[in-house]
Amino acid sequence: MSDFIDKLRAIVGDKGLILDDKDKHPFLTDWRENYLGAALAIVRPASTQEVAAVVKLCAAEKVAICPQGGNTGMSGGATPQEDGKEIVLSLTRMNKILEIDKVGYSMTVEAGVILKTIQETAAENDRLFPLSLGAEGSCTIGGNLSTNAGGVQVLHYGNTRQLVMGIEVVQPNGDIWNGLRALKKDNTGYDLRDLYLGAEGTLGIITKAVLKLWPKPKDVSTSWNAVPSPEAAVELLSGAYAASEDNVTSCELMGRMGLEFVFKNIPGSTDPLADKHEWYVLLEWASSRPPRDGENQSGLRDKMEAYLGEAMEKGLVLDAVIAQNEAQARAFWALRENHSEGQKREGPSIKHDISVAVSKLPSFVTEGLAAMKKALPDCRPVPFGHVGDGNLHFNCQSPPGWTKPQFMEYGDKISGAIYDLVTAYGGSISAEHGIGRIKVDELTHYRSKIELDVMRSIKRALDPDNLMNPGKVIRV
Ligand code: FAD
Ligand code: MLT
Ligand code: ZN
Repeated sequence: MSDFIDKLRAIVGDKGLILDDKDKHPFLTDWRENYLGAALAIVRPASTQEVAAVVKLCAAEKVAICPQGGNTGMSGGATPQEDGKEIVLSLTRMNKILEIDKVGYSMTVEAGVILKTIQETAAENDRLFPLSLGAEGSCTIGGNLSTNAGGVQVLHYGNTRQLVMGIEVVQPNGDIWNGLRALKKDNTGYDLRDLYLGAEGTLGIITKAVLKLWPKPKDVSTSWNAVPSPEAAVELLSGAYAASEDNVTSCELMGRMGLEFVFKNIPGSTDPLADKHEWYVLLEWASSRPPRDGENQSGLRDKMEAYLGEAMEKGLVLDAVIAQNEAQARAFWALRENHSEGQKREGPSIKHDISVAVSKLPSFVTEGLAAMKKALPDCRPVPFGHVGDGNLHFNCQSPPGWTKPQFMEYGDKISGAIYDLVTAYGGSISAEHGIGRIKVDELTHYRSKIELDVMRSIKRALDPDNLMNPGKVIRV
């Protein structure tokens, strides 16, 4: 094995190699701390050519590779297996913005660039890169592309798949596919790009991407609303599209339990409203059209105020506050974005990243909450998320004071009940977090034989030795 390590060192140098057990540790466990893997080495190449040389070496020596970006994934996809026979290939040194085309509304980047850096670079150039999620300060664009990440603006701009024009991929044999085409239209045979997006590192390593940009918003209005029910939330959103003149960019639903965990576990969090309510909606409208003369500070704020006033009269909103400045809007967003961290600090939980048709979401919530309570009466349901996409994180927190092993004894019963309900609703058991390792068995239950056979055929054709992130997404 020391011969293999020497060959790796010859490619990436000492700077690109982590061998010490203590230094390796952060790369070997996932954000949720569900898994602890082992690896021969953490390899950190600095260029596509170095990635290709490492992959070629691994193909020759039959060493498996676990690709990793910011390691914020929710499904264990970036954690290597426990047998210690893989390398972790971290893309974080490939962190250069390569080009901005303001006229063509595109940006070319390396895979290890942090999402927030991309957002900021776009903003400095009077443009918007709309992918936005709680982990944006540490996740990488390569990880976003590989999970086809969703986030809080999907209802207006689409998933990551819709935000990218071209990618460069190192194939499992080490060949480099240059698909960095800044084309909005390209019907030349099978769509190879779409194959790698969302593949969670099981088909190749994404090394670069050409991203789409939008005009930078010049008028933004954000409100924090107490609503009586998920039905009211869906109706509020439905009317908001027209009332905002098609400018709804976010609509996030939260139950009181998740918010309580944020207040309790995230210092500095405060309730924007005087009274407690069961459900909340964070609504944001944004437009690239600056407020016109005669409109006070914000054209959209005036429109939102009028709309929420009407919604209150109809009983769709119980109480509301519209952010008066950016700091207040950021404080509303922090309450939403800190849900994952608030839950993590509260203790053991199970995540169900589900989606159903938006109009069916309210009845799903009613039935789902009942099913969760039936499976474990003392559990604490924490439903929250992207209501505009029909995607809720229908999470389940353990009863207070329970240990993880104690709670996990009920894991299959709780998740089975939720996933069966999702299936009955024609929904998805993983709307945005992918399959990774945590849902490999579920996938075989909830996708058809035809779908699984096609996926397996693709995996075997592109990665015949099963060296790319083995044991993730689909078993071959
Ligand atoms: P990693 O976790 O490092 O990897 C994820 C997967 O992609 C793994 O299978 C890995 O092997 C593979 N991979 C990584 N880089 C590459 C590459 N260059 N080539 C090939 N394969 C690669 N997700 C959402 O979709 N929406 C949300 O709203 C959301 N909110 C979150 C909030 C918090 C607080 C946290 C912690 C996570 C959240 N996530 C969310 C999950 C996570 O941030 C996303 O899945 C993100 O896209 C992962 O990016 P990463 O760079 O951390 O990837
Ligand atoms: C989010 O939207 O905040 C995350 O995807 C959800 C989660 O932590 O379950
Ligand atoms: Zn989410």
